[in-house]
Amino acid sequence: MRVAGEHHRTVRLAGDVVRVIDQRLLPWRFEFLDLASVDAAAHAIREMAVRGAGCIGATAGFAMTLAAREADSWRELEKLAGLLKATRPTAVNLAWAVDRQIEAIREAGFDRRVETAVMTAQAIADEDAAACEAIGRHGLDIIRAIAARNPGRPVNILTHCNAGWLAFVDTGSATAPVYAAHAAGIPVHVWVDETRPRNQGARLTAWELAQEGVPHTVIADNTGGHLMQHALVDMVITGADRVSRAGDVANKIGTYLKALAARDNGVPFYVALPSSTLDWSLRDGVAETPIEQRGEGEVTHLEGVTSAGVVEKVRVVPEGSPAANYAFDVTPARLVTGLITERGVCAAEEGAIRALHGKTA
Ligand code: MRU
Repeated sequence: MRVAGEHHRTVRLAGDVVRVIDQRLLPWRFEFLDLASVDAAAHAIREMAVRGAGCIGATAGFAMTLAAREADSWRELEKLAGLLKATRPTAVNLAWAVDRQIEAIREAGFDRRVETAVMTAQAIADEDAAACEAIGRHGLDIIRAIAARNPGRPVNILTHCNAGWLAFVDTGSATAPVYAAHAAGIPVHVWVDETRPRNQGARLTAWELAQEGVPHTVIADNTGGHLMQHALVDMVITGADRVSRAGDVANKIGTYLKALAARDNGVPFYVALPSSTLDWSLRDGVAETPIEQRGEGEVTHLEGVTSAGVVEKVRVVPEGSPAANYAFDVTPARLVTGLITERGVCAAEEGAIRALHGKTA
């Protein structure tokens, strides 16, 4: 997507390093971060310099090119792969990308590990970008239909967290249909959940939408239910970090509450994801999804910029009060109106997911 009119991907190879956008600095500074070792890449993923399911998958894919250069034995390569996979547990794209690299290198042979890893990483990134574009086209049909029923007013879309282009290689999942609608001249307005504790909505989604000139309003996380009760939300679109084969959706903490409010108010609740986010090994997403728990500092403190332009963290919780930081929750399939993937739109239900994705076993 474009930043100040220039097109960028979130992650790419630049010579021998992996170049990412340092998302910890947004929206205040737009800067790149060069990752020259597997350790540096693992640190960037853990500390969320790069974040979002597709983006960490692609970054891990590129980091495997560094692993291929660093490793002089299979044992070492597998150790580095394990290090990357252990950085964040919930978004399945990360493990998926690393496993795909290992499989490709196994097939090509250890001696061809570097060129194989480079080719595979590029393929993972390109496929991610293409999938997001296709998600945009399929989601556009849904927005177009809502717009046709409500002529003369914008389609109000609520989203949670950041499943925009920063969370992928390009375009994004939940915001791809929004960008497509905006480009097609359909008036849209996005309610952006701030998304505590790290505020990915307020900091990243709002910034992205502003770059693209999409009308939007940031809201406190607990506002969505009220807006839905007053017919101010036409649809919800969120992303996903892992979707079970039954259609249960793991996504940023707070997503489940939005789905409950949407169901209570008859608001369609869509989830957009590339098929690399489907975890065929999981059936019951609520019981089986590994939920990341992060440091309490993300809850006890807030980061912002002062009027003097200085980025600062302030404590918002009394000294000594403990905090819990569950990073994701799982929305049961029964609350999901439909899944939008690069293959089209299907019900959040095992048979429909399998049929759309050509998966029989
Ligand atoms: O913890 P993050 O910021 O890496 O969380 C992931 C997310 O951004 C969201 O859960 C998102 O909706 C899905 S990722 C496309």
